[in-house]
Amino acid sequence: MKPTLLTAAAIVLTGGIAGCASLSDAELARQAADIMRASFKERGQAKLDRLNQDAPQAVCSLDDPAKKPPVADLERMEKAQQALIKYPADGRLLGDWREGEKIAQSGVGKQFSDNPANPSGGNCYACHQMSPQEISFGTIGPPLLHYGKLRGNSEAIQRYTYGKIYNPQAFTACSNMPRFGHNGILTEQQIKHLTALLLDPSSPVNR
Ligand code: HEC
Repeated sequence: MKPTLLTAAAIVLTGGIAGCASLSDAELARQAADIMRASFKERGQAKLDRLNQDAPQAVCSLDDPAKKPPVADLERMEKAQQALIKYPADGRLLGDWREGEKIAQSGVGKQFSDNPANPSGGNCYACHQMSPQEISFGTIGPPLLHYGKLRGNSEAIQRYTYGKIYNPQAFTACSNMPRFGHNGILTEQQIKHLTALLLDPSSPVNR
């Protein structure tokens, strides 16, 4: 039989897989991390330490579902993250929703081309529907339109909302949402403004 292009490709493929099978999972993971590290260059404030994962991130990044921790462990991880949330010393969790809307709209910050002296935005619309006036939004996160109308404005909801923006992994162990307070992306005051955007009855989110 004359080898066709397809059989040639199959030989290359199976050869490749057989080659990989001789490496341990740990070795493959190490090589993948090296390739990742080598493909990024430090520029300005964008340093390579951004590739370092803390313990919960490393657990959540395991590619083998069989190695994922049981629910009880994930709940323990969330409790540990909750203990890291720094709530405002003055006890006030609500700022000005008008400022919150500007922060939610802004995707500026933390890139090598941004001036680190300027405040970052939250880029919330990249993942969430919020105020109905903004019709361009992503859907990685759930819609937050009418968030306060649906949940009320109790002390417990204020604390949950502030804490969720501060460190989403405190409530969803393997969240894809950025840890805005925990990682110093947004300030305490900015998170207060965003909490008001979501909870203030006069904010467009709730009208
Ligand atoms: C990269 C996508 C992404 C960005 C950007 C993002 N979020 Fe989220 N958000 C999520 C996801 C996904 C969830 C669902 C729960 C989880 O996985 O943490 C979520 C959940 C939430 C919740 C909880 C909703 C509920 O019903 O309890 C709040 C509040 C929230 N986000 C607010 C914000 C705010 C405010 C911003 C901007 C500062 C923001 N998010 C930016 C992805 C994102």
